[in-house]
Amino acid sequence: MDPSKKHNQGTVTNPEVVRGPVVQSPSHSKLLPPRRQIIPSADRRGKGVWWPEMEGASHGLEFCLAKEADFEQVMSISEDVYDGIDYMPARYHAWLKEPDRRVILAKRKGQVVALVSANVVDDGCTAVVEGLRVAPMERGKGIAGLIQQDCFDLIRVQFPEVKVLRYTRSGYLAPEALAKFRLICKQEILPLRFELEEIRPKLDSAISQLKTCGEEWEDPILLRASDVQRVFLNPNVVGGVLPGKTIIQDWAPYRPLQSNLETLLKKNLIWLADGKEEPRVLSLGATPYRIPMGADYNRLSINIFGKHFPGARNQFLAQLQRGIGTLQGSLYCLLYLEPCLWQQMYLFCQSSLGLHQERDFEGQMVLEKDMSTGQGSSESQRRRVQNPPQ
Ligand SMILES: CC(C)(COP(=O)(O)OP(=O)(O)OC[C@H]1O[C@@H](n2cnc3c(N)ncnc32)[C@H](O)[C@@H]1OP(=O)(O)O)[C@@H](O)C(=O)NCCC(=O)NCCS
Repeated sequence: MDPSKKHNQGTVTNPEVVRGPVVQSPSHSKLLPPRRQIIPSADRRGKGVWWPEMEGASHGLEFCLAKEADFEQVMSISEDVYDGIDYMPARYHAWLKEPDRRVILAKRKGQVVALVSANVVDDGCTAVVEGLRVAPMERGKGIAGLIQQDCFDLIRVQFPEVKVLRYTRSGYLAPEALAKFRLICKQEILPLRFELEEIRPKLDSAISQLKTCGEEWEDPILLRASDVQRVFLNPNVVGGVLPGKTIIQDWAPYRPLQSNLETLLKKNLIWLADGKEEPRVLSLGATPYRIPMGADYNRLSINIFGKHFPGARNQFLAQLQRGIGTLQGSLYCLLYLEPCLWQQMYLFCQSSLGLHQERDFEGQMVLEKDMSTGQGSSESQRRRVQNPPQ
């Protein structure tokens, strides 16, 4: 994204929301349509954030930007999220520092009841919606829709070039819910849990066995930063290797664009390929991070792109070996891959590494919809927010 645009929030072009310059002073509230009330919110990073108060207010909800001090409350509404493998404890503080991300909280009487975040990518054209969660006692009332609507209103004001909302969803979506989106791609997930001390010798032996058989083993190539742009922007890779022409890193989907690659290159990922010229398989390995599942539990995410099984298997093994390094304790590995490779990879993990699928995990679906239709909260949802406790 053009940095001059990022900080130039002085001109807002969405006539529906604001008809004049947005500055931090609440005195400019007269520039907004009279129906809406402005909540000035002094932001310590100087983003000058304030935006229309949404219908949630009439249900005892207020929306604000997340701050460091909200961390404990965010964790307390997240206890059951993703059964112990939630990324939020590891990401929350970093998210607050990302200049193109907004993390929004819904609070009732000062208590956090929901969170959502939107990360602006694709040269400023797309907002990736991530982290959505509602406190267990508050679910089923439409709050997810309300907080998303508030978040999108903020994005419209601060990033007027955003035209598309992108989500990665897991689990069953009813056809009528799916019909609201464009399906970009599907990836399967192979979740594997193991003790690191046990897996190390098995991993070494699986690799040396493949090498001695000479059977389809080739050392994956480690891509340097200077290789990444050329490989990932190669039209044959974009059209033939990347799922739905998308680079997915863990759960975050990006278009293969130079600006997105620059962002990804800052994430300390391991980039592997089976060739630099016309690769059939590419992979991204994240740095493992602590998860709430238990003491000494780390999560490692490996995204594999391409449908060639031997290449995918070799890169999985190489990513695992590099990823676990000298870690101790237990590892929860999430391997994301093409649906057509899932069964073969599972059988390989069983037979060569003695691993079993940890649980029946739904795959991920990358979905998009236009910002103009991304209200996130329909009239009916708003009505579903029932009498909040006083
Ligand atoms: C999923 C969750 C956020 C839904 O919250 P909720 O307030 O009970 O949601 P409601 O059913 O009242 O509201 C429905 C609206 O929320 C939104 N929504 C629900 N689940 C969503 C999801 N996974 N991703 C994005 N939006 C979602 C949609 O806008 C939906 O509207 P729709 O009917 O047009 O599809 C909540 O159950 C939760 O916190 N679960 C645990 C965390 C989790 O699984 N988060 C999903 C991340 S992908």
